Amino acid sequence: MSMKDDVTTIPTDQLVSLLLTIKEEAEHQIDQSDASYEELRLSIFGKESELTKLSQSMRLVPKEDKQRVGIVLNQVKQSLEQLLSKKAKESGLVNEDWMDVTAPGVRPPEGHLHIVTQAIEEITQIFNKLGFTRVRHPEVDWDWYPFESLNMPHSHPASDEWETFYIIYPGFPGKNPRKQKIVLTPHTSNGQVREMEKGILPIRMINIAKCYRRQMDVSHVPMFYQFEGLYIDKNVSIGHLKGVLDYFAKAFFGPDRKTRIRPFHFQFTEPSFEVDISCGICNGKGCRLCKEGWLELGGAGMVHPVVLTNGRVDTTIYNGFAFGWGVERSFMMKSGTQLDDIRPLYGNDVRFLEQF
Ligand code: PHE
Repeated sequence: MSMKDDVTTIPTDQLVSLLLTIKEEAEHQIDQSDASYEELRLSIFGKESELTKLSQSMRLVPKEDKQRVGIVLNQVKQSLEQLLSKKAKESGLVNEDWMDVTAPGVRPPEGHLHIVTQAIEEITQIFNKLGFTRVRHPEVDWDWYPFESLNMPHSHPASDEWETFYIIYPGFPGKNPRKQKIVLTPHTSNGQVREMEKGILPIRMINIAKCYRRQMDVSHVPMFYQFEGLYIDKNVSIGHLKGVLDYFAKAFFGPDRKTRIRPFHFQFTEPSFEVDISCGICNGKGCRLCKEGWLELGGAGMVHPVVLTNGRVDTTIYNGFAFGWGVERSFMMKSGTQLDDIRPLYGNDVRFLEQF
């Protein structure tokens, strides 16, 4: 006769004592048996075990006694579970190959794009909308492109600012004077004349590349990214430049941000400007973080005729503007970022990087 048929007839008190008997027997079994963990588990908690059958008969217990029996049943189960796992641990009964397929899994770590890559993608998209195309130019280049072609003759003091890494290279002695020295490009402006040399006009390029300078502090690292815009067409004005700068500032930094341009000097633009963006913390009023409400973003200007000529662009028909900024610096100025040190971006500390 099965236990199920049996219990329908036994009163609740007897059911409880039956439970306690099962418990005692199981405890004894756990203590004495040499069976494997799985075997013990199956015999105590398996489908055919007395405990399981008794639990199934709970629905036959009178309503008013259900709670009492339920509590006892749970206690019996818990205490047997504990005893079994204690024994398993002590006697090494647990089979290492055993796997609980119902246990929640462990998620493997999931990576995401580095924040600088995310910023590069965002910048590219913003300029795409204005019709600028992302291009790539060498990050290791003849020094002609980042310097001489940009109206900085050899030994001109202006080139001091770029703290360039030169690469020891024998050059082509006696051959092309422009292909003598190799540098790690200190700015993306090396792409200006290179882009013009393609001979396709008008130009609307956005050149994003790594740049290298011998510098390291809270706002500088020796390898960083710049993005360089170049627009060459007929009748380009400073107004166009300002329009593009404002569009970018609002799209990238937030709709409340504004730009301003201040006179500056670069050898390769005339006039030249330094571009500022209104501070995201104080909204242009002036605070601890900014200079009277403005943060410096980078350089810009109308492309110098010497540069256009070096790129074989007819200066009687075409003119244009250029600008070049640091990607990391721009990212740090984004509303809500509040990063005051550039170095963690390249520190490879996942705890920092996974926040973005
Ligand atoms: N290349 C300049 C720099 O690195 C910035 C710049 C780009 C200025 C284009 C004017 C035009 O500081």
